[in-house]
Amino acid sequence: MCGIVGYIGAQEATPIILDGLKRLEYRGYDSAGVCTLDAGRAEVRRSEGKLFNLERLVAAQPLLGRIGIGHTRWATHGRPSEINAHPHQAGSIIVVHNGIIENYLELRERLRGIGREFLSETDTEVISHLIDEKYGACGDFERATRQALAELRGAYAVCVLCEKEPGILIAAKQGSPMVVGLGVGEFFVASDIPAILSHTREMVFLDDGEMVVFRDGTPSFSRVSGEPLEKASRHIDWSPLMAEKGGYKHFMLKEIFEQPRAVRDTIAGRLREEQGDVYLEDLKLTDEELRGIDRICIIACGTSWHAALVGKFLLEEHCRLPVEVDIASEFRYRNPVVNDRTLMVLISQSGETADTLAAMREGKARGAKNIAICNVVDSSIAREAAGVVYTHAGPEIGVASTKAFVTQLVALYLFTIRLGRALGTMDQAKGRAMIGELVKIPALIEKTLEMNDTVEKVARRYMNARDFLYLGRGICYPIALEGALKLKEISYIHAEGYPAGEMKHGPIALIDENMPVVVLVPKNSTYEKVLSNMEEVIARGGRVIAICSAGDDGVTRKAEETLEVPSDGEELATILLSVPLQLLAYHVAVLKGTDVDQPRNLAKSVTVE
Ligand code: F6R
Repeated sequence: MCGIVGYIGAQEATPIILDGLKRLEYRGYDSAGVCTLDAGRAEVRRSEGKLFNLERLVAAQPLLGRIGIGHTRWATHGRPSEINAHPHQAGSIIVVHNGIIENYLELRERLRGIGREFLSETDTEVISHLIDEKYGACGDFERATRQALAELRGAYAVCVLCEKEPGILIAAKQGSPMVVGLGVGEFFVASDIPAILSHTREMVFLDDGEMVVFRDGTPSFSRVSGEPLEKASRHIDWSPLMAEKGGYKHFMLKEIFEQPRAVRDTIAGRLREEQGDVYLEDLKLTDEELRGIDRICIIACGTSWHAALVGKFLLEEHCRLPVEVDIASEFRYRNPVVNDRTLMVLISQSGETADTLAAMREGKARGAKNIAICNVVDSSIAREAAGVVYTHAGPEIGVASTKAFVTQLVALYLFTIRLGRALGTMDQAKGRAMIGELVKIPALIEKTLEMNDTVEKVARRYMNARDFLYLGRGICYPIALEGALKLKEISYIHAEGYPAGEMKHGPIALIDENMPVVVLVPKNSTYEKVLSNMEEVIARGGRVIAICSAGDDGVTRKAEETLEVPSDGEELATILLSVPLQLLAYHVAVLKGTDVDQPRNLAKSVTVE
């Protein structure tokens, strides 16, 4: 999510690092920093906001040195500010980090207990203190780094320098990307290829649990545990634009494929599996306060509103509170009935949507409590809300929301467990079972993504249709709405989402042999009913594209096309069902030649009414 660049060689490090960071800036980072070692001294410059601010600072206070590390931050723990910007220095150790350290709170407590002082709110600062603590004990930078990394749980890509061993640069990876660029007598490390592509095209990709130590002009690769490794390099012939997209043709496709990682990050460090509970660090509502709520009002726009509709099912089912879902632009112009026992949940990827922000203020003025589900840390909605559940999807660049939506569903699921446990409507066993289902989801998304080529073929067969109908029932109805919205937005084909059982009350008149009907029919509690609705479509000559549970021959025999997802569950199946719908919209749009990442008339963040 964040950007990392490191350099060791014969040139001045700072210009190379700043240039690398600049090449990652298109993702919209919130702060940046750089550190170089010169004559055995570490110099750090950091600044909040765009990279331009850091460049100005470095121009005013130059940094010399032929070894250095830099970072652009997308805030996860701690708001965007200079103090939270990387690099973080503790004693002799300087660290930049990408990822989320799940056990940072316990590590921080332990380190505080031995007198270490923390300046920032980040999980990264824990890493620098931990390595420095080990370094103090063993006096060997490489060994200290290995020992410290072995204590971390979660995901990281780190680059580390040591003021007292100024000829060494160490980089390591677990769960977050890290690539090593091989130059002539010089080396680069980066979280992303575009950062270093202008310097070298020979790259070595670190795998999880691997580390590289640059010393005396050579890189040596090993496992973090110490075992040496031979790593082969790859020649990267991507154009700079391809590199920004990680080799994918569009950001949207890249982001669809990032979903397993995005879900892992959103649940990282939050599960209390033993207790069957969830820890939401910025929720800021005590159990007592949660017990004072008698109604929930979820407010959002567009895709986030679809997530809100799924949230209603989850919260009513497990927390037994009445939940109302409203479109933000509608809510604010009614005379909404909310009071101090109402909890408003505002969902917004960007955290800047004007309608959602205004609805939040309207509710607040009427005394309602609120929390936000946001992807952008310190965005306007996140700042003004009393509490926040952050989704850790990372920057979403494609205008059509994909990974942000899926992580909103995860955040709602986490909040449901937290609230259900606080209210006592969910017992420990149920909490554990729900967590057990959740942890399987990233791997199941990976499996679902394997159908990409099949979906492309389906898209080819239906791309010329004038209209599409999407049907779902119960918790799958909002997913049908989302599938239709995705298709509309990027392919410009008219599409409608409908509750499957409602079709006979009107839309059935539209069905003929030209109308593709996407039916969401997983094996869940409404399976039989949706199957009958599907038969009604087939009987009228409609062309059914069924999204069903794997191995469901009953559906396969009847539908013209079937796309099978590896789950027959109820609630989390919504995540898996979303994936083929995203891919279908994507491929239809690509085949029609539209501007997939920036569809006409749309903006990523709608800050006007
Ligand atoms: C659709 C899409 C939009 C947004 C909507 C709300 O793909 O992205 O419908 O969901 O504009 O935006 P946020 O979530 O940023 O408030």
